[in-house]
Amino acid sequence: MNQSLFRKKNIRDLLDGQPKSALKKELGPFDLTMLGIGAIIGTGIFVLTGTGALTAGPGLIISFVIAGLACLFAALSYAEFASTVPIAGSVYTYTYTTLGEFIAFIIGWDLVLEYLLAVSAVSVGWSGYFQSLLAGFGLHIPTAFTAAPGTIEGTTTYFNLPAFLIVMLITFLLSIGVRESKRVNNIMVIVKVAVVLLFIVVAAGYVKPANWDPFMPFGFDGVFAAAALVFFAFIGFDAISSAAEETKNPKRDLPIGILSSLFICTVLYVVVSAIMTGVVPFAQFEGVAHPVSLPLQVSGQNWVAGIIDLGAILGMTTVMLVMLYGQTRVMFSMSRDGLMPPVLSKVHKKYQTPFAATWIFGLIAGLMGALISLDELAKLVNIGTLSAFVLVSIAVIVLRYKQPDLPRAFRCPAVPLIPILAILFCGFLILQLGSATWIRFIIWLLIGVVIYFVYSRKHSKLNQ
Ligand code: ALA
Repeated sequence: MNQSLFRKKNIRDLLDGQPKSALKKELGPFDLTMLGIGAIIGTGIFVLTGTGALTAGPGLIISFVIAGLACLFAALSYAEFASTVPIAGSVYTYTYTTLGEFIAFIIGWDLVLEYLLAVSAVSVGWSGYFQSLLAGFGLHIPTAFTAAPGTIEGTTTYFNLPAFLIVMLITFLLSIGVRESKRVNNIMVIVKVAVVLLFIVVAAGYVKPANWDPFMPFGFDGVFAAAALVFFAFIGFDAISSAAEETKNPKRDLPIGILSSLFICTVLYVVVSAIMTGVVPFAQFEGVAHPVSLPLQVSGQNWVAGIIDLGAILGMTTVMLVMLYGQTRVMFSMSRDGLMPPVLSKVHKKYQTPFAATWIFGLIAGLMGALISLDELAKLVNIGTLSAFVLVSIAVIVLRYKQPDLPRAFRCPAVPLIPILAILFCGFLILQLGSATWIRFIIWLLIGVVIYFVYSRKHSKLNQ
């Protein structure tokens, strides 16, 4: 028996002897792009741009470009892997075949930070917009249930009830099957993109170029700090690769889905941030919970601002849908490999979904969103994701070197340059996140290491 920490799954065995999956194969490139946009556009653009503008000024545009470039380089690596190992589990599975079991476990554990906590973080953003929409109708939730404990200075709050309830609704949708959730997702993505385009078309007419001067009031320090924050806005495209097993032609469709959704979102973000900071002097975003609708309100376009609020709510809903989906599929793979308890890969007979896993993670995500602040959640999500991107970029180089003739439907251009750029960009953004986040991240990883040695190593299917 191979007891090495670096024991690997063999890619060829994996592809040839892939166990007949019980998951339905029904997604195509269009569905995957929709899944990607569904995951990408959300709290990042609708909520965090305000903080980003305060940190970088109009230079936020550059912050988005930097964060987008980091994602582009990582996405090209992801796409190569996704098309080579089209099996559920995303970067976790890829790492298992290249860097070995221990690192694969750690990356899967790390992905929990990305997917699961992203659901929690977005639920907090969703709750803010939802409460403001209710307030528009004169309805108010009792203050104690509007936010996590200790998040509003001078106010006693216990639990973010709307955040919790929306996650429960998402969990229900996912648990009853991909078809239903996909349809809901597609409609919401169309609404979300339409709302962003509406903002661009209406607000562009109110841009005063004088607001772009000074362009970088806090210099490059501000621009870089904002880049590390708004990086959150790009997270999600990699969730597409988690859907590999449910894709009709993964070798072709996954790269198309990843690259096209990332490209569309980057263009939208750059244009939106340019217009936002062009209409309103950046300092006015202080304390504003709806930074995207503010420029319209200031310009007297209140009805458009209202539509944008509603679109933001729908937009954030799809993000949670895709993220929770990604989370359950990664755990599905880890459980099938014996690294996590078997209940997490149990497929429901009627719905053909990992039903129990969906509810378990849905409940955890809901509780975290209800009890922890958006800032803390978002930074942890960013560090978890950036680390995953660094690992996948390393893995691309390793795999090219070790298995050069493995069939790859999509080849990342300019290897090793592009993966190295991904490592440098992502590493740089990690450095901008600050020591409190690094410490939390390290504690999280240590918990994972303990679980690996106490449970996963003994139960791994590679023992058989
Ligand atoms: N990119 C996703 C969002 O901004 C996580 O909500």
